[in-house]
This record gives sequence, structure tokens and C-alpha cells, in this order.
Amino acid sequence: MPEIDKEILTLKREKDAVILAHYYVEDEVQALADFVGDSYYLSKVANTCPQKTIVFCGVKFMGESAKIMNPEKTVLMPDAVADCPMAHMAEPARIQKVREQYPEAAVVCYINSTAEVKAVSDVCVTSSNAVKIVAALSNKQIYFVPDENLGRFVAKQLPEKEFIFHPGYCPIHAALCKEDVEQAKAKHPNAPVLAHPECREEVLQRADYVGSTSGIIEFATKSENSEFIICTELGVLYELKQKNPSKRFFAAKENQICADMKRITPEKIKQCLTEMAPQVEMEPELCRGALCALKKMHEMAR
Ligand code: 13P
Ligand code: SF4
Repeated sequence: MPEIDKEILTLKREKDAVILAHYYVEDEVQALADFVGDSYYLSKVANTCPQKTIVFCGVKFMGESAKIMNPEKTVLMPDAVADCPMAHMAEPARIQKVREQYPEAAVVCYINSTAEVKAVSDVCVTSSNAVKIVAALSNKQIYFVPDENLGRFVAKQLPEKEFIFHPGYCPIHAALCKEDVEQAKAKHPNAPVLAHPECREEVLQRADYVGSTSGIIEFATKSENSEFIICTELGVLYELKQKNPSKRFFAAKENQICADMKRITPEKIKQCLTEMAPQVEMEPELCRGALCALKKMHEMAR
């Protein structure tokens, strides 16, 4: 075990801490974490783990969501700057305006959003539970924020609903285009294409499987195929290779990298546990507002 991992282990025991990491963070961070997963899984772990301190190796909305659901716990972010650009592509004022225009619509917000947006939404979703939750809502009209690509993917599965989309996107997934997929398919004709629903429709149309990061890993692990083309952030390759050492994985494009997720390092984890900072701190009123939408997601996704 690397020396720094041993030091982190000691600090974890001293501070009664658990380390959660998203599949997009660096390999060495995934290797030392107690739990690694997609956004929904990590959110569930944050709600049920017995430790008093959560070290969230991911971006700001993940730490915020853990704090909103567990205000009594200390939530540490190893890098306070790591944030999701898509989370800032929706604002409460615009949501209120659309609400006035479509009073019957449910506002469904992707968990990749600010606490302020969650506070004016009816329910949160992640990429792994969005279809299930939207299907179960009694509202026919759905205003989906902030990710238009995920919204359109959900809408395709639920033709009985009417969707209002919002022009938000993940810069990493949206950078992939049909030419990238076609070139990868030409190079690896036997490899199925596995894509995250944050990708553009033209990419999803060419995919053999569409799902969250956990879904992609599960699909590849269960599949009898021995090679795959991956259309999501390349941090997933760590778990894919751990679980499937004899299978081969090809990136549809080499630069599918989320620079924010990659800000987390073992050194920053050690530092935040030593200093017990930076912590997620939020106004109690904002937390109370955002709690309803997150709680509803956990109830409906069960
Ligand atoms: P999932 O964790 O739901 O697969 O979403 C990916 C993502 O972009 C997280 O920021
Ligand atoms: Fe946000 Fe995209 Fe990075 Fe996920 S991969 S955190 S959606 S910028």
C-alpha cells in the first residue's frame, strides 16, 4: 500500500471518516476510496453510512447533496474548486418563469445542479433513475433541467409525457459527435458502443447500450463481448479494467476527461482530513428548500 494511503487510513480512523469517490476521479483516488460508484449510489451511501465525516471525492453538487440530506454530518471536499459546469447552466429565476408558463408541469432537476435550483424543483433524478422517476410522476408535462441530452433521452422512453427542455449540457459528453463514434466503430467493428445519456442524441442513436456509469460497467461486465467502445468520461476505465481484466475498452475519443473530477488527489484527501477543511457549508434555509426534491428522489427510486 502506498505510504500516503496508510496515512489516510490512520486519519480516517481518528476522524471517523468514510471516503466516497465517483467513477470519474483519478485511478489512485478510486483505489483508496471506501465506496466508488455513480451519483445515485454515492448519494445512497452518504445517507446510510455510520461515519460522522464524509470525504466526497467528486464535484461540488455531490458534496452539497450529501450535506443537504445529512446536515448533522461533516462533509469534506478535498478540492473546493471542483465543480460541474453544467450545474450552473440553470437558474431559479428562469425555472420560476417556466413554472408560470406551464403551471401543470413538474420541474425535474438532474442532481448535477446547484442547491438553489434543487430548492425550486419538484424532484431530483440521476442518470440511473431518471426514466423510472419521471414515469412515476402523475404530471403529463415535465420541465427537465439542466441537461437537455439526458432530458431528451428520458423523453424518448416516455412518449406519453410532454417535455420542456432546458439548453444545458455536459461539455465533456457533448463534445462527442457521431463522427467520433463512426470512426471508433470502423476501427473496432466487433465492439458494442456503450454511451452515457449525457451524450448528444446523434451519439446515443449509434449506441448499443445507454446508461449511467454504473450501468455501463455492469453491461460490459455481464456481456459476452470482449471489446467495447466507451462514450463517457474515461475515469470509468479503471473499474471496467478491474472487473474485466481480459476485456478491451476503447475510448470513442481520447479527451473525454472531466478536469474538475481530476482535481482530486490523494494529497488533497490527506490534507482535508488533517485540517478538517474545506467543509461543505450551506445556509439552513437553502438546505431545507433543496431537501424536498432530493428526498423525493430517494423515495421514488427505491
Ligand atoms: P452518473 O454518475 O449518474 O453516471 O453521472 C455521471 C456524471 O456526469 C456525474 O457528474
Ligand atoms: Fe459535470 Fe460533465 Fe464533469 Fe459530470 S463529467 S461532473 S456532468 S462536467
